[in-house]
Amino acid sequence: MPKKVYIRTFGCQMNEHDSERLRDMFVQRGYALTERVEDADVIIFNTCSVRKHAEDRVYGKVGGMKVLKKNRPQLIIGIVGCMAEAQKYEIFKRLPHVDFLCGPADLDKVPDIIDKIRNGAGHIVYIESYKSKRIPEFSKDRNAGHAGFVKIMEGCDNFCSYCIVPYVRGRERSRPSKEILEEVELLIKKGAKNITLLGQNVNSYGKGLKEEIDFVELLRKIDRLIHRDCFARHRNNGGLAMTKIRVSFLTSHPKDASLKLFKAMRDLKSVSKILHLPLQSGSDKILKRMNRKYTVAKYKKLIESFRKIVENGSVTSDIIVGFPGETEKDFNDTLDIVKGLQFDGAYIFKYSPRPGTKAFKFKDDVTLEEKERRHSILLNLQKESKTRSCAQFTVLKTWS
Ligand code: SAH
Ligand code: SF4
Ligand code: F3S
Repeated sequence: MPKKVYIRTFGCQMNEHDSERLRDMFVQRGYALTERVEDADVIIFNTCSVRKHAEDRVYGKVGGMKVLKKNRPQLIIGIVGCMAEAQKYEIFKRLPHVDFLCGPADLDKVPDIIDKIRNGAGHIVYIESYKSKRIPEFSKDRNAGHAGFVKIMEGCDNFCSYCIVPYVRGRERSRPSKEILEEVELLIKKGAKNITLLGQNVNSYGKGLKEEIDFVELLRKIDRLIHRDCFARHRNNGGLAMTKIRVSFLTSHPKDASLKLFKAMRDLKSVSKILHLPLQSGSDKILKRMNRKYTVAKYKKLIESFRKIVENGSVTSDIIVGFPGETEKDFNDTLDIVKGLQFDGAYIFKYSPRPGTKAFKFKDDVTLEEKERRHSILLNLQKESKTRSCAQFTVLKTWS
């Protein structure tokens, strides 16, 4: 009987993708996948630390597995991903039945870690992703469905004052374009129709690579590849209609989004016309304290240019309410810009102080009740927002 592995994911698309690659790796090693913890020989939680709530859920779920482990001591439980980094000094104290921790940069080592534990190695920890320069090297072969993620870069150098990501994913590093193109080609061959390029900050793709390339050039190369491929299929299928392949990307930062990018979104046929551009706040004072490096006026201008250049384009956003020092006036400024810009979709988050970040030192002076009030006002406003062509939004971005 093959050993069974259960993998549960929290957090963003990057984490969903990491779990998908981890599953492929286990299957290649002869494991079977299971959806039931009761049947599993190995239980893995791929975790997120972006808000405290995400960590609390994992503490709750894994805490409840004590009995499972007591009844089956050979069961192996691991916490991997961002929270393994952020909570490295807490997890074993609070969850002594966890066998291993592994940060996001070393996920490709997880099956080997499990073999070592089976051979009596005891607790194992790989928790130096915050300073790692590597991107996990999963096997080149991939399982693909209709939609496929491709990681183009990992990590973040922006250090928004509220955000844990640079401390858990480490500094920005990009994958060589050749590797990315090979992966895109493989996914297309396997039938993927929607390709999503992933990075914490896709606009700075290329930084530190030996080749001279930026994000727009990468999009161009991928577009050329898709047209070549579609063309070949068109020919082989003896005149059947060309299949549409769509390339989306996540996430852009307003300080780096450029007219050059918008023009590429207009001109490149395979590139999706959805721009996810997190605003975070409609108050310059708060944006400054968030270390976002743009003003509300600049953001507005960007969206106006985008809408002018990309006909039928959609814009989606992320907004945080209740950041330290956010007054009623600052919040009203956010309402105004949300009313004015009419996003096609937006995620609204209540500020959650993250230990180790700069904002953690600021007084968390907006009460939970007030955060909840602002959250629901903004959510309702966003719901009322006239919906433009946002049907693809949920496909583009989901949170678990
Ligand atoms: N650039 C990243 C953003 C990851 S975090 C990307 O690849 O998508 C996603 C969103 O979570 C952010 O845009 C921000 O709105 C929100 N967020 C980050 N840290 C937060 C915190 N401490 N409290 C509440 N929301 C937060
Ligand atoms: Fe976090 Fe800011 Fe980097 Fe996004 S750009 S991952 S919000 S630090
Ligand atoms: Fe969460 Fe890590 Fe993604 S902290 S948002 S899973 S990069």
